[in-house]
Amino acid sequence: MTDDYLDKVYALKTDADRRALYDDWAAQYDDDLASQGYVTPARCAATLAASPLPKDAAILDMGCGTGLLGRALAAQGFTQIDGADVSAGMMEKARKSGVYGRLLDLSETRAPKGHYKAVAAAGVIGTGAAPPSVFDQCLDLLPKGGLFCFSFNDHTLEEPAYTDRLNAAVADGKARILSEEIGDHIKGLGSRAMVYLLERQ
Ligand SMILES: C[S@@+](CC[C@H](N)C(=O)[O-])C[C@H]1O[C@@H](n2cnc3c(N)ncnc32)[C@H](O)[C@@H]1O
Repeated sequence: MTDDYLDKVYALKTDADRRALYDDWAAQYDDDLASQGYVTPARCAATLAASPLPKDAAILDMGCGTGLLGRALAAQGFTQIDGADVSAGMMEKARKSGVYGRLLDLSETRAPKGHYKAVAAAGVIGTGAAPPSVFDQCLDLLPKGGLFCFSFNDHTLEEPAYTDRLNAAVADGKARILSEEIGDHIKGLGSRAMVYLLERQ
C-alpha cells in the first residue's frame, strides 16, 4: 500500500491534489509507514532531544500528519507540542493521539510568528509533500536562537528547488547549520534522509 501512495504522491503537482491524497491516506498511513520501517520522525525527535532545547519549550510540528513526530517528541519528554497541517483528514488522526495542544489547519489559518522555540518537520518539505516555500515559512516563524529540525529525503536532496533554499538561508546569515546527519528514512523502501538541525540567526 505504501508503494501505491508514494507512487501517487510523488506524481502530484498541485496543493489541492496533495491535500486530497493525504486526506484519503490518513486512515491507513500509520499502518503503511510502520510496516515499512519509517524512522525519520524518531530521528528528528532524537535530534531535538540531544539539543539544549528545554523539554517544556513550545514546539510546532509542521506537517504533523497523523502525529508520528508528535508522539516521538512526547516519548523524548517534550511536553508543549502543537501541530499544523493542510490535511484535515491527517490532523483528525493527530488529534486522537492526544499529544498535541493546538492543531492548526493551515488551509484556514497561519501559525503565530515568534511563539515557538522550535519547529520540526519530518518528511514534510520535499517532493510529494510541501513545496520549497514551506522551508522559509518554518524559519520565519522562529525567534533568533530558535531551532528548526527537518528532513530532506533522497528525492528532495536531488532537487535544487529545495536544497537552494537551505543554501540561501545559510549564505544570507538567516540560519546556521548545527548538525546534518544522513540515515534511514523508510527502511523497507531502502530510502534515506538527511536530518538537519538549524539555528535561526
Ligand atoms: C509524508 S507526510 C509526513 C507527516 C508526518 N510529519 C510524518 O512524519 O508522518 C507529509 C505531510 O505534509 C503535509 N503537507 C503538505 N503540504 C503542506 C504544507 N504546505 N504545509 C504544511 N503541511 C503540508 C501533508 O498534508 C502531510 O500530512
